[in-house]
Amino acid sequence: MPLQHNVFLLAFLVLNAISVASQSPFQIVFKSQPKTEPTGTFQFHHPIRRVAVVGAGPSGLQTTARLVEHNFTVRLFDRAPHPGGNWQYSEETPVRESYPDRRAGDYYAEIPAQIPTRRYYQEGDDGLTLDYRWREHWRPRPVWYNLFTNSPKVSTELPDVPYDPEVPWVLNHDTIQRHVRSYASHHCLNSNDYCPPKATPAAPPITSYSTRVERVEKDAETHTWVLTLRRLERLPESNRILEEWWTESFDAVFLAAGPWASTHVPDIAGIVDWSKAKVGEQYSVYHSQTYRHPERYAGKAVLIVGSSVSASEIARDISPYAHRIIASVRPPKELTVRRKLSLSRFPNATEIVPEIASFEPLKTHTDGIRGGKIHLVNGSVLQDIDEIILATGYRSSPLYPYNLTTRTPEDTLWSGHWAQDPTIAYSIGRTWTLGRYQAYGIAKVWAGKAQLPPLDRTEDGETKPPSMEWFGEDIFRRYITWLNEASLKYGGRFVDPPPIENLEALKYYSVVHFLTANVTALEDIGLSSISMLSQQFLVEDPWDALVDEDDD
Ligand SMILES: Cc1cc2nc3c(=O)[nH]c(=O)nc-3n(C[C@H](O)[C@H](O)[C@H](O)COP(=O)(O)OP(=O)(O)OC[C@H]3O[C@@H](n4cnc5c(N)ncnc54)[C@H](O)[C@@H]3O)c2cc1C
Ligand SMILES: NC(=O)c1ccc[n+]([C@@H]2O[C@H](COP(=O)([O-])OP(=O)(O)OC[C@H]3O[C@@H](n4cnc5c(N)ncnc54)[C@H](OP(=O)(O)O)[C@@H]3O)[C@@H](O)[C@H]2O)c1
Ligand SMILES: *[C@@H]1O[C@H](CO)[C@@H](O)[C@H](O)[C@H]1NC(C)=O
Ligand SMILES: *[C@@H]1O[C@H](CO)[C@@H](O)[C@H](O)[C@H]1NC(C)=O
Ligand SMILES: *[C@@H]1O[C@H](CO)[C@@H](O)[C@H](O)[C@H]1NC(C)=O
Ligand SMILES: *[C@@H]1O[C@H](CO)[C@@H](O)[C@H](O)[C@H]1NC(C)=O
Ligand SMILES: *[C@@H]1O[C@H](CO)[C@@H](O)[C@H](O)[C@H]1NC(C)=O
Repeated sequence: MPLQHNVFLLAFLVLNAISVASQSPFQIVFKSQPKTEPTGTFQFHHPIRRVAVVGAGPSGLQTTARLVEHNFTVRLFDRAPHPGGNWQYSEETPVRESYPDRRAGDYYAEIPAQIPTRRYYQEGDDGLTLDYRWREHWRPRPVWYNLFTNSPKVSTELPDVPYDPEVPWVLNHDTIQRHVRSYASHHCLNSNDYCPPKATPAAPPITSYSTRVERVEKDAETHTWVLTLRRLERLPESNRILEEWWTESFDAVFLAAGPWASTHVPDIAGIVDWSKAKVGEQYSVYHSQTYRHPERYAGKAVLIVGSSVSASEIARDISPYAHRIIASVRPPKELTVRRKLSLSRFPNATEIVPEIASFEPLKTHTDGIRGGKIHLVNGSVLQDIDEIILATGYRSSPLYPYNLTTRTPEDTLWSGHWAQDPTIAYSIGRTWTLGRYQAYGIAKVWAGKAQLPPLDRTEDGETKPPSMEWFGEDIFRRYITWLNEASLKYGGRFVDPPPIENLEALKYYSVVHFLTANVTALEDIGLSSISMLSQQFLVEDPWDALVDEDDD
């Protein structure tokens, strides 16, 4: 197979952040029958003028910029107080995940009977602190202090605001955060920009931060989408929080709420009991979303559950401090190359153990978990553990349909439009690179300047979600060709493919990033193929490594 194939495979591995299985309630409520599958020229009920974008991460910001450029009246909502999406590091941590696991939608507030409405909260109202209300509303991000990208600069970059050439290939979260906010400012989408409206002075401001979209509902009479919105404002002078509820109607909605909206807590026997254990104010069992600093782990025995990126990267971060690091790894259902690479990133000192079968009930919850017993599926018992970090992944936003196992519903066109009603569109992923093209595609279709593409189907005629099988160059070519054909036919500017040098940079980055593997210990739990993979990487010339990898 050609070299290029490997390049694209690695590009996929490094770039593609695949959403985890989710059972979030479908908050998009229909009052009308869904339309039949659209292809080609789709007749919208009425011309699209008002558009809502949910999420001011890299995806939502780019799409907003393109929609504004196409003269739509746009409103951009984000629950966070600033743009940046996932890339807003804070010492604040999200409110504690629930034990047992709950569906993501359960976090959402009860919608008041009367809207619009407003209400002030004091410290301690309904037994909740103001701090808790605030954190529950915006959800501090699952980003830790020493987090660096697992994607190189060239593929973690937005257009218009290039990184300083001196910035290294490996970025820390802070560099990305400033980059994304620069992009937002460049397009007048930051939280404190002063941007007088140009064309229509009466137009509403584009951005509304600290605003959570609670519900997206189709009005059968007006054929518009009604968004139920909830904004919180901290009022430090009077030590209160102002909560406002209102609705707004839109002709179309772009959902870029990100795949990390809530956590996944594994359903292990006894976990609810263990989740109550504390040492002082510190819980002994917690999800990786609250992990921030490694120094705290000095001298501790830490059990990390999971074998993906969070698990191995947190293990690396704490390894200079921790006395003992154990990782509970279950044999992955599908041992993708991406997963093998994550496994290979565990530090040398990691003790790999099998999946946890159960936690033996604790005698007390005030003395941590050191005295407790953890039963593994192979019959062994673990003891003397100080803390357990559940690096067990995330679920997508409750705005997305029920039981979603992919980033987008099955019947999503590869452009991101929802086949049942293409006035809804989803961010299809790879937001730094493909997101740039998707932003054009969304604006063009809604402006009547591009035709909807057909649904992808399997050989059996089943519909397939976009992007998962169209990695690397394929999806780029497909998207760029579609956009430029539309521009030829309906007018509009032409788009270039990403520079070929980016792929080269990506190759080198990937090889260096993953070369330091020592995964001998994984053989003990029957994952010997991973060791073989790491051997493949141990070649002198990175280009050879990529050719070898073709056999996988
Ligand atoms: C720990 C971690 C590390 C990562 N490392 C990398 C990396 O190294 N390289 C890489 O390329 N990617 C990485 N990612 C993936 C990361 O998600 C992407 O880089 C990128 O942020 C995705 O952009 P997005 O715009 O699709 O979503 P996000 O950046 O997640 O933005 C979504 C936005 O939607 C908002 N939102 C959600 N629900 C609502 C609602 N109901 N109402 C209003 N607003 C809402 C959120 O507040 C958020 O700001 C990492 C992710 C995590 C969790
Ligand atoms: N830049 C960085 O360094 C960085 C750091 C962290 C995260 N990220 C990104 O963030 C995203 C999320 O990564 P993530 O690692 O947090 O989540 P993830 O990829 O969804 O991984 C969740 C892990 O938990 C495991 N798991 C779930 N239940 C388990 C159980 N009962 N017992 C044992 N293991 C269990 C899963 O195993 P199964 O596969 O068997 O289900 C999987 O290994 C990824 O896109 C990643 O690239 C990037
Ligand atoms: C948007 O409006 C401006 C001013 O009327 C016009 O010059 C421009 O061509 C319009 N853009 C698109 C994409 O229609
Ligand atoms: C793991 O061991 C190898 C071989 O001794 C070494 O090159 C590498 O630096 C070690 N990695 C870490 C994270 O200590
Ligand atoms: C269970 O797995 C661990 C880690 O691989 C190993 O040390 C232990 O001996 C195993 N126990 C049994 C009973 O096989
Ligand atoms: C989603 O999952 C829940 C719980 O497993 C189940 O009760 C429900 O029927 C599922 N819904 C759909 C649409 O499949
Ligand atoms: C790799 O790890 C294994 C088991 O942890 C260890 O015995 C071995 O010495 C390590 N190899 C290198 C090259 O460091």
